[in-house]
Amino acid sequence: MPKSSPLPHLSINVAMSADGKISTHGRETFALGSSEDRRFMDVLRARSDAVIVGSRTVNLDGWAIRVRDAEVRRSRLNRGRSPHPLNVVMSTQLNLPPNCQFFSYPRTEKLIITTREAPKHRIRRFEKYAEVFVLPASRIRPRAALRELQRRGCKRILVEGGGELNFSFLSQKLVDELYITITPRILGGRTAPTPVDGKGLLKNAQVRLQLASSRRHGDELFVRYRVIND
Ligand SMILES: NC(=O)c1ccc[n+]([C@@H]2O[C@H](COP(=O)([O-])OP(=O)(O)OC[C@H]3O[C@@H](n4cnc5c(N)ncnc54)[C@H](OP(=O)(O)O)[C@@H]3O)[C@@H](O)[C@H]2O)c1
Repeated sequence: MPKSSPLPHLSINVAMSADGKISTHGRETFALGSSEDRRFMDVLRARSDAVIVGSRTVNLDGWAIRVRDAEVRRSRLNRGRSPHPLNVVMSTQLNLPPNCQFFSYPRTEKLIITTREAPKHRIRRFEKYAEVFVLPASRIRPRAALRELQRRGCKRILVEGGGELNFSFLSQKLVDELYITITPRILGGRTAPTPVDGKGLLKNAQVRLQLASSRRHGDELFVRYRVIND
């Protein structure tokens, strides 16, 4: 594959409160969105070859990334696909919880992308639960992660947070679409995570969006943006 071949199509999906938080300041695990949000999450997952999450999301929530809705799963199976997309976690040193559902759920394929900073004993340990891909670097450059997924045949990739991971893909101009569900709640908290955290961007580097569609369902708003990456 030539080095310049276009990277896989990448979307981010996130549910946030009306005041722009993706969890509480206590980082509790709970569903922010409604059952319609979860169904739509499944639709986006079903369109994807791989879904990537950050190591803190796996540490805090630890859910397997599944297409839970039976009808959505069936239509994916009818297209000759596996029932669930490849579950990918990015973690520099493999500080991950082996006993969570992400690793124990039997019907998902799992890939950990890590670095040479990961201790050998942790690599051996996690190889029991997932394929472990070690990048020859001390940190995971998002572009290198995407190239590796592309090498494995992934054409459509979904990033499901959290805010640190979303920032790293957005700031590198690797994101094509951004799906945001605005849920009718206020969570507040200056340390509560938001859809895009990380270091942040200054005005000359801000990422610009084009509103592609919006849909109301009950008290929730489903918004889709195209990301302008020029
Ligand atoms: N509402 C939603 O839609 C939603 C979705 C997902 C998560 N969440 C919430 O978000 C919170 C977690 O978000 P978070 O921002 O704290 O953490 P995160 O984005 O889930 O994970 C960040 C961690 O991933 C690892 N990582 C590896 N490579 C990276 C890279 N290139 N860029 C960024 N991170 C990289 C780093 O840890 P290492 O040192 O291990 O490499 C980093 O600290 C939780 O409270 C969770 O519940 C909400």
